[in-house]
Amino acid sequence: MVWNPVPGGGGGSSFGWLSRRRTKHVLVLACVVLAFSIVGIVLIAKIDKSDTAYSLDTTWRRTAPDAKERYVRMIPRVIWQTVKSHEVPKLAYDAGGSWTHLNPTYDRIVLDDSEVLQFVKRFYNETEFDLFKSMPVGVMKADFFRYMVVYIHGGVYADADTINHKSIDEWVDSDCQFVVAPEDNDGFFCQWAFAAIPRHPILKRLVELIFEKLANGPDYSNPHFVHGVTGPAIWTIAIREVLGISPDEKLNPFILTDRAKTLRKDQGICWLTTKELVKALSNLSAHDNPAFVEVGWSNWFAEAGDLRKKLASETSNEE
Ligand SMILES: *[C@@H]1O[C@H](CO)[C@@H](O)[C@H](O)[C@H]1NC(C)=O
Ligand SMILES: *[C@@H]1O[C@H](CO)[C@@H](O)[C@H](O)[C@H]1NC(C)=O
Repeated sequence: MVWNPVPGGGGGSSFGWLSRRRTKHVLVLACVVLAFSIVGIVLIAKIDKSDTAYSLDTTWRRTAPDAKERYVRMIPRVIWQTVKSHEVPKLAYDAGGSWTHLNPTYDRIVLDDSEVLQFVKRFYNETEFDLFKSMPVGVMKADFFRYMVVYIHGGVYADADTINHKSIDEWVDSDCQFVVAPEDNDGFFCQWAFAAIPRHPILKRLVELIFEKLANGPDYSNPHFVHGVTGPAIWTIAIREVLGISPDEKLNPFILTDRAKTLRKDQGICWLTTKELVKALSNLSAHDNPAFVEVGWSNWFAEAGDLRKKLASETSNEE
C-alpha cells in the first residue's frame, strides 16, 4: 500500500509566493516570537514553582501522586507551610525558596490565615471548626493547623522561617511513616519540622487531645498555655502515649535505644537527632526577628503576653 502525501504537498518551496527578502523578514519575526515564547514559558515555569496557593478541590497538587510514589515512598512529596498573608517579607520568601529549590519533585503548599480556615472548615465538622476559631492567638492556630493538615494529607511540615539545607529525600527515607527529632533539652520533640503519612495514629490522637483541651476551656492565664494546649508539650504527650515512651524517658538517649530501633523497623518511626535535624534545616528564630513580625505568628510571645495582661486586668476589675 502506498502512502499518499497531502495533496499539493509535492515539490517546490511552500514559500514560493514570497520574495527572498520577505522570507528573511518572516524568519526573523518567527525567531523573535519563538524567543519570547521560550522566555514566557520559563517565566511561567518559575512562577509555578513558587508558593502554590492551597485550593480546596483536589487539583492542588501540580503533579498527581504517581504509582511509584504511592507504593515505593510512604510519605507524600508535599511540603506544608503557613503564613499570615502571602505577602511575606523577602527574608521569608527566600527561606521558602530554599525548600522549592532543593526539592524539585515536591509540591510546596503555603496557606495563609483565610486558607487555613477554609481547610479546617472543609475537613473538620462544625463543632471542631468553632473550637479551632476559638483559639485566642494566631500561633495556636498555626500549631494546630500543622497537625491537622499533615493528618489529612500527609507530607512534610516546616515553619515558614526555616531554611532547607539538605533535600528532604536525604533525611526522609522512603519507608518512613513518621519523622521526628527531639529538642536539645531532651524533654520535648520538635514540632517546627516533622513529616508523616496521611492518617498517622500519632496525629489522630494529637488532634483528638487538642480538641478535648479546647472543649474543656484551657486556662489562658497560665503563662505556658500555648506550649501546653497546642505546642511541643501536647505534641510530645501524644507521641509518648501512642508509642509507649514513658514520661521520664530522656528523648535524645531514647532514640538510640533498641526499642527505638524496633519502632523504626516495625512502624517506620524515623528518629533524627537534634543535630541531624539542624543539619537538614535551620530556623531563623522568627520570634526574635523583627523582619518576621509581619508574617504574623512571629510575634506570638507578645500576643500571648498581651492576652494574659488583658485577662489579669479583667479579673482585677471584677474584684
Ligand atoms: C465532630 O467530630 C467529632 C470527632 O469525630 C465527633 O466526636 C463529634 O460528635 C462531631 N460533632 C458533630 C456536631 O458532628
Ligand atoms: C529554632 O532553632 C533553634 C536552634 O537550633 C532551636 O533551639 C529552636 O527550638 C528552633 N525552633 C524555633 C521554633 O525557634
